[in-house]
Amino acid sequence: MTCRYRCGNACGHPVPNTSGNPGLGDVVAAGLTRRGLIRAGAAGALVLTVGAPAGPAAAGPATTTGGRPGALTFTPVPPNRADRVTVPPGYDSAVVIRWGDPILPGAQPLDVHHQTARRQLGQYGYNNDFLALLPLGRDRGLLVSNHEYTNEELMFPGFTTLEALTVGQIEVAMAAHGMSVVELERAGDTGRWRPVRCGRRPYNRRLSMLATPFRLDGPAAGSPLLRTAADPHGRVAIGTLNNCAGGVTPWGTVLSGEENVNQYFVGGDQAPAGLHPSLARYGFATTARYPEDSRRWERAQERFDLAKHPHEAHRFGWIVELDPYDPRATPRKHTALGRLKHEGANVVVARSGHVVAYMGDDERFEYLYKFVSDRTYRPHDRRHNLRLLESGTLYVAKLTGDSPAGQIDGTGTLPADGAFGGTGTWIRLVRGTRSSVPGMTAAEVLTFTRLAGDAVGATTMDRPEDVQPSPVTGKVYAALTKNEDRGLDTFPGADEANPRNANKHGHILELVEDGGDHTGETFTWSLPIVCGDPADPSTWFAGYDRSAVSPISCPDNVAFDAAGHLWISTDGNALGSNDGLFATPMEGPERGHLRQFLTVPPGAETCGPLITADHRSVFVAVQHPGEVDGATWDNPASTWPDGDFPRPAVVVAWRPDGGPIGR
Ligand code: FEO
Ligand code: CA
Ligand code: CA
Ligand code: CA
Repeated sequence: MTCRYRCGNACGHPVPNTSGNPGLGDVVAAGLTRRGLIRAGAAGALVLTVGAPAGPAAAGPATTTGGRPGALTFTPVPPNRADRVTVPPGYDSAVVIRWGDPILPGAQPLDVHHQTARRQLGQYGYNNDFLALLPLGRDRGLLVSNHEYTNEELMFPGFTTLEALTVGQIEVAMAAHGMSVVELERAGDTGRWRPVRCGRRPYNRRLSMLATPFRLDGPAAGSPLLRTAADPHGRVAIGTLNNCAGGVTPWGTVLSGEENVNQYFVGGDQAPAGLHPSLARYGFATTARYPEDSRRWERAQERFDLAKHPHEAHRFGWIVELDPYDPRATPRKHTALGRLKHEGANVVVARSGHVVAYMGDDERFEYLYKFVSDRTYRPHDRRHNLRLLESGTLYVAKLTGDSPAGQIDGTGTLPADGAFGGTGTWIRLVRGTRSSVPGMTAAEVLTFTRLAGDAVGATTMDRPEDVQPSPVTGKVYAALTKNEDRGLDTFPGADEANPRNANKHGHILELVEDGGDHTGETFTWSLPIVCGDPADPSTWFAGYDRSAVSPISCPDNVAFDAAGHLWISTDGNALGSNDGLFATPMEGPERGHLRQFLTVPPGAETCGPLITADHRSVFVAVQHPGEVDGATWDNPASTWPDGDFPRPAVVVAWRPDGGPIGR
């Protein structure tokens, strides 16, 4: 069920990457030496969340606060199947906001028996994913959420099939997609937060798929590939779709990744034949009118029929930027950052002042990317900074292992040098309006970025999810969630960066830019964590005693607290437990000492982890609770959070004794 609703059953469909790009085993350069890890330092990195001494005007590179690197001391939460959110002893947790809670003036509370698109547009959306909390002073903040997708089977009493939904129900689903901005306040002097309920809440906002305009900018905006009958200039798209993870910029905006957008369209078989290869490369069905797991949105809005509006597909799959401090600002889609199945984007300011965004394309055998802005960050010039993501250079990653290919046997056994690691290069795809890929224009590189990555021989990875620089060390961490097709049939086999065939549990990549320069074109990398049951010899926790770490499977989102501890949330635990949130130091003797901090109810994924800069609160988005095969609203597999039917919701955890999170 997760597969069908979340990603259009992507794993049940053919792998879209048929480029034949090599795995590392084919390109390993024997004799390369690992370079020493380079200390990037904190300059240029920052945390802009509640608890940091920053507001939108003051946002800029700043010294982080709230703690020092070192051991985490909370008691790990054991694997479990409980229908609740479980936190360590000494912690408390509470729901902050749920699907259907009214957030706009005059909005009605959720009534599943009488839900309409109009009601939903005033309410918090479904399936909260990425979370950001931007400061409005010490005790107020703006919670920005993605609403990635909908579970119609859990939303509508009497649900039978997607095909049987009424147009009105489809419009409810479209209204429940998108993003929300909700003003929160601290509850007393605690780590608990709740929505501001009284008085004006001028920042509260819903962005949906029904009618919210987004301005396309950057080199591909206005190109013929982005023009449609409804938008002959190719500059305004309606709605944002399948928003997965994201990031907060140093100038106080939120980035959001449009991910599995293909599943919402039909009619690819009747699209112009010249578009079939690029449509197929992004997973759009081109051999049948109705893909197996189609949501049939063309019944509500004709633009989702590619036979009639083939370019509508090109208007999704971008990185979106939203300014939550300006409720009237038109959100934007930045074509300069390429079109992928974007997990998200995380920004760091390089020493040179250029802004660098790291990004993953979440599908089996897809690539890692980064964007370097043309212009430089200016502290206290927000107007200037709001345009930094409109032009720059887009790169894709090629990784080379430093061990002989014969030592990477696909089992996860470490090579003779004792580590999975090596070197890498960022291959330029486009700079400004100049393409670096022979035979492709800049607009084509940006609209069909996967094809550009194929052309330059990028390294196929095991589903790149979140990619995020540490605000303390500058090292970049990527979650490779899993890839059960690695090494199967004719698919690329294990290589040093993806060292297990039939990879069920995923791994974490640590990338260190040479010289600590985020704008550079070379780096070193290693795999500090290879996930699974620590009793499984194919797992690795940076050499830490495996008997002391928590089992972890399918890492998805990564986050840092202000002390530089790495927090990892999971999606799709393949070890029989509910998904959870984990934390580990990444420096010093405790590196790799991973522990589970929290678990979510059955069927749910743990999303959007966020540790406030004052170390007093941890937020998670509990996405799709009860999403279990066969479960429906009438026959739920979870009744969290209220004991009746499952509702996606945001949870905050804190220490009632007022102490810092994790220690
Ligand atoms: Fe929406 Fe990549 O998970
Ligand atoms: Ca090695
Ligand atoms: Ca995922
Ligand atoms: Ca995700």
